Amino acid sequence: MITTVATTPFDGQKPGTSGLRKKVRVFQQANYAENFIQSVFDVAERAPASTLVIGGDGRFHNRTVIARAIRMAAANGYARVLVGQGGILSTPAASHVIRKYGASGGLILSASHNPGGPDEDFGIKYNIANGGPAPEAVTEAIHARTQTIDRWLMVDGGEDVDLDCLGTSQVGDMVVEVIDPVADYADLMEELFDFDAIRTAAGHGLSVAFDAMHAVTGPYAHEILERRLGFPAGTVHNGTPLEDFGEHHPDPNLVHARVLYDLMMSPDAPALGAASDGDRNLIIGKGVFITPSDSLAMLAADAHLAPAYAGGLKGIARSMPTSAAADRVAEALGIPLWETPTGWKFFGTLLDAGKATICGEESAGTGSDHVREKDGLWAVLLWLNILAVTGKPVMQIAAEHWARFGRNYYARHDYEAIATDKAGALMAALEASLGALPGQSFGPLTVSAADQFAYTDPVDGSESRNQGVRVMFACGSRIVFRLSGTGTEGATLRVYLERYEGPDGRLAEETPAMLADLVAAAEAIAGIAAHTGRTAPDVVT
Ligand code: G1P
Repeated sequence: MITTVATTPFDGQKPGTSGLRKKVRVFQQANYAENFIQSVFDVAERAPASTLVIGGDGRFHNRTVIARAIRMAAANGYARVLVGQGGILSTPAASHVIRKYGASGGLILSASHNPGGPDEDFGIKYNIANGGPAPEAVTEAIHARTQTIDRWLMVDGGEDVDLDCLGTSQVGDMVVEVIDPVADYADLMEELFDFDAIRTAAGHGLSVAFDAMHAVTGPYAHEILERRLGFPAGTVHNGTPLEDFGEHHPDPNLVHARVLYDLMMSPDAPALGAASDGDRNLIIGKGVFITPSDSLAMLAADAHLAPAYAGGLKGIARSMPTSAAADRVAEALGIPLWETPTGWKFFGTLLDAGKATICGEESAGTGSDHVREKDGLWAVLLWLNILAVTGKPVMQIAAEHWARFGRNYYARHDYEAIATDKAGALMAALEASLGALPGQSFGPLTVSAADQFAYTDPVDGSESRNQGVRVMFACGSRIVFRLSGTGTEGATLRVYLERYEGPDGRLAEETPAMLADLVAAAEAIAGIAAHTGRTAPDVVT
């Protein structure tokens, strides 16, 4: 029986963001998750009797929302729901399942790298039939619907689907299939990469430490690295997904994967250290941290060593704040480089149109046209494929890359939980000063240009404005200022610092020293301390 529940509009999703991300307590309010899910169902493009994919990263509240979403999908005319066993589907695996089974879309229950638990964060986003995050036109329509919604629908009665049991059951007129969350994805990875070469190298001493951060990627890593590729048991650390990620942030960066970093800088380091929460990844070689921007560039330069990319790349896409390291690779390969606003959704049209094959962001997202999401294990496997085929250590690959293309020293400074009005005032003042910046000098740095980044999608012509302030210097260095769109507490100011050294330049220096002048210039230009009272960033990645 279908029940119609009366509700009132809610001010949930921020316009322009790819989903709803809030504290669990907010999601636990009556009608809250339901309003968003119903808004998705009301506006999503879908043929009658379509398939919906549902899965999440296993964080606290995952099962509750999945049970409700299944009943709502049944009441909203879906013919079939595919849901990962235990409510688990990593974001890239969900993207693959949507594409493989021709679903009209999917609900992905994740707050990405934000912490989990009763007092932490939860999130829902909608991905469309290409497997990627809903584009802005769709998220705007969902947001508009949340402003007028007055009812949501669900099928009443009967037991909730047993998410732990593989197999098929019926909810109303709809079929629910609980699927193995790992198998399809692992098969796809086996098609893309040279598993034989990696297996052989593993047998000859290629070693890896993989930190799954108690996040959704653990089961995938156990299956692929330890079972299919033959790395020894224990290769995957923190491999059991926990509702609160063991009270850590599932954010693979130098702060949250510190234990891995320390291991990789010690004499006991394996050949490759990698961390992933599912969609993001961190790559550390023995004695050398590879920035995500460099990882994108190095993977693009050597991707032809993996079977799926042996025919070459169609193009490379990176978000604007990501360093320009990949630009030099694209130039050398004679392929286009696309600079997009922050957020994976902007890569979707380029991948769909065959304009790019590989894409990435400085925030540790890397991926390719095999799915429409960033894919942490994919990046790790491509690195392993390259290490196995070349037989070179990460340090040598990096050194040779920099000697050929030059090196983009890079860091991101985050100032978290700033009062929203103060962050807004800082950005407003910065924007007002843009016209006066060119020609001004800050220590040894002279501004050559300054603007607000705007983007016109080369495929669908859609426009995105106010995507971050860029300050370019005559020497090729750059500072970018933007406010995070994913935080759940106040505002987060991100300051991205980049300094380029050509192939004949200083290639083996410590990053903080190389960026010191840029840090001082950022303070002088934006007045961070005056606006926010902060004299140092909370997180440096
Ligand atoms: C952050 C990252 C961005 C990424 C997004 C979703 O967004 O910076 O690259 O696409 O998370 O994972 P932000 O908080 O900066 O808006």
